[in-house]
Amino acid sequence: MNQPPRKNVLSGARPTGNLHLGNYFGAIENWVRLQDEYACHFFIADWHALTTGYADTSGLVDNTYSLAADFIACGLDPDRCTLFVQSSIPEHAELFLLLAMNTPLSWLYRCPTYKDQQQQMTDRDLSTYGFLGYPCLQAADILMYRADFVPVGEDQLPHLELTREMARRFNHLYSPVFPEPQPLLTASKTLPGTDGRKMSKSYANTIAFADTPDEVRRKVMSMVTDPARIRKDDPGHPEVCSVYAFHKVFSADESDAIAEDCRAGRIGCVQCKKNLAARLERFHTPIHERRTTLLRDRETLRGLLDRGAVKARKQARPVMDAVRSAIGVGIADGR
Ligand code: TRP
Ligand code: SF4
Repeated sequence: MNQPPRKNVLSGARPTGNLHLGNYFGAIENWVRLQDEYACHFFIADWHALTTGYADTSGLVDNTYSLAADFIACGLDPDRCTLFVQSSIPEHAELFLLLAMNTPLSWLYRCPTYKDQQQQMTDRDLSTYGFLGYPCLQAADILMYRADFVPVGEDQLPHLELTREMARRFNHLYSPVFPEPQPLLTASKTLPGTDGRKMSKSYANTIAFADTPDEVRRKVMSMVTDPARIRKDDPGHPEVCSVYAFHKVFSADESDAIAEDCRAGRIGCVQCKKNLAARLERFHTPIHERRTTLLRDRETLRGLLDRGAVKARKQARPVMDAVRSAIGVGIADGR
């Protein structure tokens, strides 16, 4: 029986460091689920990493491989999705260039991340053409695969809106080539960092899949708890405790009982952390071992990414043919 073609999903992440539990529960867990329902395209946005990290590229290749290993270890399956590295697909650069031709500067200047990041990242000079134009690159990534849905966090919504504006403008100026991609806002779990703030590499409060089981245990034992609890039988406030936030994710079946024991002063924080460490280990260690094994054999990993690039280019080429022909540029396609 003929099945209707599946809708296209696309998302990407920058290779800027090791994947951590915040990334996993904020996004990747959903990506893994989406693979069965949609034609999924997931990519490692190494050119995007250059828009802010052009001056120090020393870790870029290593980070690209380790993000690929983290992705696969978490369950992104190169046989069930198209998993690739952005810089392997030169079509992204061509579409970026063609979108740049008709994107008003005012759209780029008013993108909220433009000024925000320039102000935040004071250690680097972000007054570059590439940094200003990066929403065009992101639009190229998305439109290239005629994505219907883009699973993104709230912080990426302005970029997606710009992508939609670029698609509309292109379709209006030339001919309708691109669907307007919709955000896919799926429910996700939020985990705080080990210090109670948002889990983020820049706060050094992450638990990453690259961490060894020993490191994970040490990090759990050093997590901040309810500061009002000094002695073991002081009544606790689980709602302000990061350990409890983790229990809600990793010990869902027990979390109500844990909260009660905490409030009644029946359980000490050390014991509570030990329980969490055991739960977390069951989840973390298999993924850690898979990513370690994958990284030990770069040839095989590169082979998987090369196959992903072949699949991606097979889809990108006809879209670029349609784009060139809609604009009316180039003689290579027999015009
Ligand atoms: N800009 C995204 C980030 O910084 C990464 C990204 C690049 C992306 N292109 C994309 C995400 C396309 C979704 C769709 O995390
Ligand atoms: Fe947090 Fe557990 Fe201590 Fe309660 S007992 S404050 S939930 S670590």
